[in-house]
Amino acid sequence: MTKYIDEAKAILAANDRGGYTVPTDRLYPFQWNWDSAFVAMGFAAYDIDRAYRELERLAEGQWADGMIPHIVFHQPSDSYFPGPDVWRTDHVIPTSGITQPPVFAMALRQIYETAVATGSVAEERTLALYETALKWHRWWYRARDPEGTGLVALLHPWESGSDNSPAWDIALARVPTVTQTVVVRKDTGHVDPAMRPRDEDYNRFIHLLDTYADCGWDPARQWQRAEFKIADVQTSAILLKAGEDLQYLAGVLGRGDEGDEIAALNERTRQALKAQWRPHFSRFVSRDLLASQDVVAATQAGFIPLLALDLDEATAEAAGAEMRKWCKGMQVAFPTTEPGSASFEAKRYWRGPAWAIINWLLIKGLHRNGQAGFAEELRRSTISAIEKEGFAEYFDPKTGEGCGGLGFSWTAAAYIALER
Ligand code: DGY
Repeated sequence: MTKYIDEAKAILAANDRGGYTVPTDRLYPFQWNWDSAFVAMGFAAYDIDRAYRELERLAEGQWADGMIPHIVFHQPSDSYFPGPDVWRTDHVIPTSGITQPPVFAMALRQIYETAVATGSVAEERTLALYETALKWHRWWYRARDPEGTGLVALLHPWESGSDNSPAWDIALARVPTVTQTVVVRKDTGHVDPAMRPRDEDYNRFIHLLDTYADCGWDPARQWQRAEFKIADVQTSAILLKAGEDLQYLAGVLGRGDEGDEIAALNERTRQALKAQWRPHFSRFVSRDLLASQDVVAATQAGFIPLLALDLDEATAEAAGAEMRKWCKGMQVAFPTTEPGSASFEAKRYWRGPAWAIINWLLIKGLHRNGQAGFAEELRRSTISAIEKEGFAEYFDPKTGEGCGGLGFSWTAAAYIALER
């Protein structure tokens, strides 16, 4: 509806800090990696120049080795911890030292295609951002899959974007709670602490940060010393979908050799992801590389591979049926943890709530895999949750209540993309 589209655009304008968009004021006062990629896709619907700009500002944070960090600290702010002084990375513009899901190339393709359709394509800008994305994809395979398995690993739960998901519980419990850095949480001053990660997990997040800072942020040393190492199906699926989009861009930009290189990497990930399907769960599972075991916690990550795979009919239907089961009795789909499971918490960050951007990925995955009806239900559920509760960070799936930060950029972008 126009009224809400106008509100969504107003949120993106209010969260603009000069060509980049903060996720929300105070709680997240810098540029976050995958947030910005989603936001760029929102901008693509009505302001191509601004969409390109969002990715360009993110690219300013790219490291020489190709990594795009999860936070770019363009300007100082005292409302967030851990800030640049804790990360101690050595980049001209201060950044964090870890990364986040590689949605970037998905956004770039969408911007490019919209620009072509509206006669506003900017070849040089597209090419520069394509090169940024290519460097980052190469980094993922080099730094986070050094053994060439096809699945990329996370060394920190924050890299998943799903910070305190039950998927990390077993692996995270092995990480010590002691930190060199004095932990001064700011998030719980902005949002009800009952909705945020627990203190002991927060300490573990900072323990990992301290460890990697001690490695001088060198990827090989981090890989050696990592006390948390998960080959994640959500991140790998996003990498593959973005890899397909990168391959497409290589084609239209006349970069055939690079296209072949990307195609080979994509194929490796495609095969590896397929092997993570577990018929008895009707979903995909990640792998804990340090414990050599499957991550069996029932979370949304198990269905994100639909985004990047063309499943056979029986598998797609089994995944769809399992997803529907999770939605039964919920006011808002899609719960990020299976309702009824011991770790489900309806309001706590990533342990059950519904997130518009996750729904956005799932909707794409369901369409790709012949489940248009369910995709439409999920789309409507997302739209009506936002229209009732506003542009909250996420939603309690049992009551529909908007939770976490308010005036949230990626919820606004998802609304713009999903409302039509
Ligand atoms: C936080 O600080 O909660 C962020 O999610 C880390 O990226």
